Amino acid sequence: MAKVTSSDYVMDLGSGDGGIVIAAARRGATALGIEYNPDMVAYARQAADKAGVTAKASFEKADLFETDFSKATVITMFLLPEINLKLRPKILDLKPGTRIVSNSFDMGDWKPDQTTELPDIASAWDTAYLWIVPAKVDGIWSFDKGTINFNQEFQEITGKLNLGQEVDISGSLNGNTITFTAGGRNYTGTVNGNAIIGTHDGGGAWRAAR
Ligand SMILES: C[S@@+](CC[C@H](N)C(=O)[O-])C[C@H]1O[C@@H](n2cnc3c(N)ncnc32)[C@H](O)[C@@H]1O
Repeated sequence: MAKVTSSDYVMDLGSGDGGIVIAAARRGATALGIEYNPDMVAYARQAADKAGVTAKASFEKADLFETDFSKATVITMFLLPEINLKLRPKILDLKPGTRIVSNSFDMGDWKPDQTTELPDIASAWDTAYLWIVPAKVDGIWSFDKGTINFNQEFQEITGKLNLGQEVDISGSLNGNTITFTAGGRNYTGTVNGNAIIGTHDGGGAWRAAR
């Protein structure tokens, strides 16, 4: 679901037997497992050795709550709902576009961008969720000859565009990419900190800043 490639840095939070880290390393990614059980760390290191991926797969004996995972481009986890919720603020502060995949447990009211259920599996653990960390746009921006007020709930956006006359907006974020409709027009743009540059289907360009 995260479409992991060799340019990714994957971190598995609670890496257990190392299977996820080894699978990521087999795709060429650099992968790190964080695991507080030393026996599982030793087991996973041996498994990585057997799989011939020690150059790409490593394991650290650590508590995931004390781990800096800001360098990850992909985070995987198979933890518990309350752990996911406790991690959520830190995850939402990661670089926009970071992909998060969780086995079986969701993130409360942060709806997944994608859900996949494995068919024909007689297991309670048959569902995986993907979230893409959204850029932060909530608030008022100057917008060409007016203002735009984004009301952001995770990756979902509502709000008002005012170019002399106020219209409702509705849209979403996929990492740094923002798309919304306002006044019957479709807008798309790229968020870069406090600036957004984009185009709309009326054939023009738009900019917003704050
Ligand atoms: C269900 S296993 C998942 C293993 C592997 N990620 C997978 O998907 O197959 C969860 C692992 O998380 C580890 N774990 C739970 N809380 C942790 C914490 N606070 N810090 C580090 N590891 C933790 C457990 O020891 C266990 O090995």
